[in-house]
Amino acid sequence: MQIIRSLGRMVKAAQSARRAGKTIGFVPTMGALHEGHLSLIRAARRAHDVVIVSIFVNPLQFGPREDYRRYPRPFRRDSALAKRAGCDVIFAPTAAAMYPAGRRTIVDVTGLSEQLEGAARPGHFRGVATVVTKLFHLVQPTTAYVGQKDYQQARLIQRLVEDLNLPLRVKVLPTVRERDGLAMSSRNVYLTAEQRWEAPVLARALRAAAAEIHRGTRRASTVRARFARAIAEAPHARLDRLDVVDASTLQPLTRLRGRVAILAAVRLGRTRLIDNILVAVP
Ligand code: PAJ
Repeated sequence: MQIIRSLGRMVKAAQSARRAGKTIGFVPTMGALHEGHLSLIRAARRAHDVVIVSIFVNPLQFGPREDYRRYPRPFRRDSALAKRAGCDVIFAPTAAAMYPAGRRTIVDVTGLSEQLEGAARPGHFRGVATVVTKLFHLVQPTTAYVGQKDYQQARLIQRLVEDLNLPLRVKVLPTVRERDGLAMSSRNVYLTAEQRWEAPVLARALRAAAAEIHRGTRRASTVRARFARAIAEAPHARLDRLDVVDASTLQPLTRLRGRVAILAAVRLGRTRLIDNILVAVP
């Protein structure tokens, strides 16, 4: 397995692979790899000649009060895990190389980046859209693999690939969970033992909300109330956001029909956890 830090070398490696007729499966990450990331790498391995994983903690997508500095960066461990999952190349550029002084261009998926999670985290999705566009140009993937865990992000990446006519496919794979239902996340390491014990309440509340729809509810307000009640069972969990939206457009719904996405964020102490569930309304 090769580790590439230079942007120029990344482009050269990608070009020579593509010229040789090889397909490239690409998994963009911020490192601190877990089974969620590894499931994406393994899927890329099964389908492609070359598997490239980027590890880059992208300063542009963190707010001033967020965890950019303390975000975990266990690079040696990540390299070993990525290699074992079938990665051929780790692309790990520096922030200075990705964002040299004087840069002016950002990518904004209008109407998708400001709402929902974007409303709670101003500028976040512009940072994501910008870095992902740059990474796609550098890595030149045939297919990019992303997780449903970050549902709005996945929709935004699909949208930008379509809108900017980027020559790649985007595959969205299911959320990988701990045995107690907690969605795997690099931020789970921030949880104290007590918070970790309460954390599965988020997935549990989402399942309860989805069950409410299967039981016949068609009103978003009823689903929200059910979710809030389930969260209240955990003494330290605070409901941060709950959005009941059309799974494709991400527009808020009041009457439920078609494919519905329930997107939630909960705070446990200083840590903000997100998760979601998709429901096909019967
Ligand atoms: P990161 O949080 O490291 O996640 C990288 C990819 O792994 C994303 O596509 C994310 O949705 C996916 N992922 C995370 N947890 C998952 C889980 N439990 N199951 C399945 N997939 C999971 O998302 C980012 O990094 C960044 O915003 C990035 C896209 C790399 C741009 O900087």
